[in-house]
Amino acid sequence: MMFKIKTFNKIDPQGLSLFPKDGYTISEEEQNPDAIVLRSYKMHDEVLPESLKAIARAGAGTNNIPVEKCTDKGIVVFNTPGANANGVKELVVAGLLLASRDISGAINWAKTLIGEGDQVPALVEKGKKNFAGQEIAGKTLAVYGLGAIGILVANVADKLGMHVIGFDPFLSTKNAHQLSSNVEVVDSEKALLSDADYISLNVPLLPATKGFINKDKFDLMKDGVRIVNFARGGLECKESLKEALKSGKVARYVIDFPDEDFLQMENVISIPHLGASTKESETNCALMAVKQLKNYLENGNIVNSVNFPATSMARSGAHRLTVGAKNDSIIGSINDVLEEKEITIENMISQKCGNLTYLIIDTDKCAEVTQAIDKIKAINGVILARAL
Ligand code: MLT
Repeated sequence: MMFKIKTFNKIDPQGLSLFPKDGYTISEEEQNPDAIVLRSYKMHDEVLPESLKAIARAGAGTNNIPVEKCTDKGIVVFNTPGANANGVKELVVAGLLLASRDISGAINWAKTLIGEGDQVPALVEKGKKNFAGQEIAGKTLAVYGLGAIGILVANVADKLGMHVIGFDPFLSTKNAHQLSSNVEVVDSEKALLSDADYISLNVPLLPATKGFINKDKFDLMKDGVRIVNFARGGLECKESLKEALKSGKVARYVIDFPDEDFLQMENVISIPHLGASTKESETNCALMAVKQLKNYLENGNIVNSVNFPATSMARSGAHRLTVGAKNDSIIGSINDVLEEKEITIENMISQKCGNLTYLIIDTDKCAEVTQAIDKIKAINGVILARAL
């Protein structure tokens, strides 16, 4: 089987090298790709070619991909949760420090002393009082969202001597176990936000979280709170943030996703989306994205998809059939097609998420499965069917 991969953005070569040369072609120009690998390239205005089976996002956020449209077309969208978490966590720590002391203002001011010659040390001592700040040790940090990044942020802040409170309505058992026992997990936004000196936002940008840091949330917060957002721009309601900055409710807002408005707001520190811009994160994300994509293209296994259920099965039969459907009772109809072709099922797995069902079926016959594909595609609700 030969697969065509299209790339948007510069993908780390170590990751791309996992595609074997004899089974894959990789190009930025490919018109009919089987799969796309990208970073933050915005795909919303792109036409999704009929050939497209999967999109792998080398990174966590998938708000640059039209996920729902992909689901309707049977295109599996992958991301790489955790692969850049350490890179982002380290910059969150920098963000907490930038929010505590006027480091960026002070650096800019120090530059203005160029040309003062021998006077520089004395001027530094005189001027430094304008940039004094506070320490983070002993302060309370609220971590909103305890996914791969939130967990690391909570644990490192604990090590730095902060009192850490965490909240996540979807906290997984696995993540809960990774949290330091000093981190206090609370079960309401009020309990999270009302005592915090610092808040770190670590939730994805989804329709449900768009603008969710709004007036109601600011009203819950202490005066002079410092907020760091290394998750996504758009989580905050800008108008409410502007008010909160003006009134002093928010002392500093550090954002890794600035736009014109943020650049113009006083007490907002803008960083140009550097959270995962480290060699290590880029390599980890590309390696994970390519491994997951290869596994899907070659075996139909789904690991870390944002729109299809996690489904994996070791190969057992001569041939493999994979089916995705917006239909709960698909198995009977598929069975009818297989029986008609006298195909025996050797092994099978079926997983559901929401109204989506995904099946992997290993069978004893090869040519017959390929012939059955068109009939399976015609079953009501089927959005993808592949013979592998
Ligand atoms: C992510 O979503 O993984 C980070 O924001 C980094 C990136 O966009 O690549």
